[in-house]
Amino acid sequence: MSDPVFSDLLKEERVFAPPPAFAADAVGTPALYQRAAADPLKFWEDHASELEWFEPWQQVLDWQPPHAQWFVGGRLNVSHNCLDRHLAGPRRNKAAIIWEGENGEQRTLTYLQLHRQVCHFANAIKSLGVVKGDRVAIYMPMLVEAAVAMLACARIGAIHNVVFGGFSPDSLTDRINDSRCKILVTADGGWRRGKQLLLKNEADLALASTPSIDHVVVVRRGAEDEFACTMRPGRDLWYHEIMLDAPVECRAESMDAEDVLFILYTSGTTGKPKGIVHTTGGYLVGTYTTSKYVFDLRETDIYWCTADVGWITGHSYIIYGPLANGATVFMYEGAPNYPKHDRFWKIVEEHQVSIFYTAPTAIRAFMKWGDELPARHDLSSLRLLGTVGEPINPEAWMWYHQNIGSERCPIVDTWWQTETGGIMIANLPGAKPQKPGFAGHPLPGISAVVLDEDGSEIATGSGLLAITQPWPSMLRTLWGDDERFRQTYFSRWDGSIYFAGDGAKRDKDGYFMILGRVDDVLNVSGHRIGTMEVESALVDNPVVAEAAVVGCAHELKGQGIVAFVSLRGKLAGDEELRDKLKQHVAKKIGAIARPEEIIFAADLPKTRSGKIMRRLLRDVAEGRALGDTTTLADPAVVEKLRTLYEDKEG
Ligand code: WTA
Repeated sequence: MSDPVFSDLLKEERVFAPPPAFAADAVGTPALYQRAAADPLKFWEDHASELEWFEPWQQVLDWQPPHAQWFVGGRLNVSHNCLDRHLAGPRRNKAAIIWEGENGEQRTLTYLQLHRQVCHFANAIKSLGVVKGDRVAIYMPMLVEAAVAMLACARIGAIHNVVFGGFSPDSLTDRINDSRCKILVTADGGWRRGKQLLLKNEADLALASTPSIDHVVVVRRGAEDEFACTMRPGRDLWYHEIMLDAPVECRAESMDAEDVLFILYTSGTTGKPKGIVHTTGGYLVGTYTTSKYVFDLRETDIYWCTADVGWITGHSYIIYGPLANGATVFMYEGAPNYPKHDRFWKIVEEHQVSIFYTAPTAIRAFMKWGDELPARHDLSSLRLLGTVGEPINPEAWMWYHQNIGSERCPIVDTWWQTETGGIMIANLPGAKPQKPGFAGHPLPGISAVVLDEDGSEIATGSGLLAITQPWPSMLRTLWGDDERFRQTYFSRWDGSIYFAGDGAKRDKDGYFMILGRVDDVLNVSGHRIGTMEVESALVDNPVVAEAAVVGCAHELKGQGIVAFVSLRGKLAGDEELRDKLKQHVAKKIGAIARPEEIIFAADLPKTRSGKIMRRLLRDVAEGRALGDTTTLADPAVVEKLRTLYEDKEG
């Protein structure tokens, strides 16, 4: 928490009130906060009533900490609410998804068209033997078919498990096996920064050790044979071929509010990713309500969230939240800097994007690429900006405000997690002023506080971020490991308080500033990576004896990964080995986990009881004055490491 990135945040005093015209007409008003505070359960119940239920609930909440059930006894279907619900009115022929490929090709699917695709695909996977409760892995580039596959699973009650397309085959294998998926939906490839991403080939490597998979459905991204891939007869099927035979009538399965909608794996403090479990009713109510108010959604908006569907942001705020609201979602396949660095602004101009939601890492890259790029484009269609995934430094906030928002668009800084399912802390854009670097207040219906180690509330000052009351879109458990669920999230204080794993500061106006992770989880470019995962990947290489991974401040990525590695036997570390190990981690986990720096050391600093002292390593990695070394078994080790690090830097 003493990170230099935050030192300027602490002095931040600028306040930006919502533009009067925006405030006057805002979807989320100050009264909403009062309404929710007066009766939070009624607030959620009212919003649940805006959706369509096959059967009403008998009880809004059943809370047996740490287990919550929302809308008990209610039955509904998420795909019905995202699609069918809109077909009877004027949204029928409204664009649901406008997609653009990296090479410029465009596709638009109206709600009616998307509904038909989803029904066809739902029938297609049914014919492959997928039934309610089965798990379906989805490993896709940013294609419309990713959305179709997710919604089709939701339609028939299959549980999707989306794995980010940038993850390695090993990561895919683990995630498929942990939840024993029956089929995998993937694509032959996609385009990324002008290069072909051969996803099916990657998937094939994973599929060598996934006994639960019966079939692989492959979306053809381009022309026949444009993306090299081999199809294994009997197992692999082309998406377009199975779609041809599939009937279009597909009744949406009546799901219990607490039936599982999806599993999404995320990094934790051990080497094994956690399968976060979200259910049907609460998740939909949460994402529907937060999309509506945080993004101030209107019928005429073109809403663009730049996340990948492989992350929770893609699930909640590309697919489920916006579509439940009947919004028009823009979806882009490729890189922000292809063919040129102004691609995003070209898209905003051409598609008249009105709401733009991205990550601070991206904003810092835009800053580096220069003010003249957005200035070349007409961005006047924008009316609201958002950020998610990491703390935003005020400098980046101001740049976004001035260069993208022309000082006229409110910025919503949204704090939430894979576990929370939906946005938890963010100032409603028309109802509260924004302060750069602050996410702001908990949303209506959400009870967030800052606590000290003992669980006492810190009214103003820094501590641990906690949620004191259950909320509809909260995770219900970890797939196959309820005890880890309880331990990780509900054991810090009294058993009913959710521990978020983040540090936070609350100012005198009650604004929350998120200070970053307090556990062994890094946030690299807005992506969560467990230090233990990277360590496991490193020691998996036979040359490595021991590894300790820490984060260091990184100008663009927020945090970078630094690995301290001791080698087996008499091996000497050189530049070549360094590259090899970086490559090894990228291959084991995915390119996002490639260490920024590897430092070879004969010994790693340990306590007398043999624990690696990460805090000391963090100090070394960030060139800070050394912390407490009194428990260190051999104090000279740290000095040696420091010299090694400085040599490397110098
Ligand atoms: C971080 C992403 C500061 C935080 C939606 C959290 C943020 C983790 C913000 C969750 C924000 C997310 N300001 N930090 N606005 N939003 N974080 O599960 O550390 O991929 O715990 O969910 O990202 O990452 P996850």
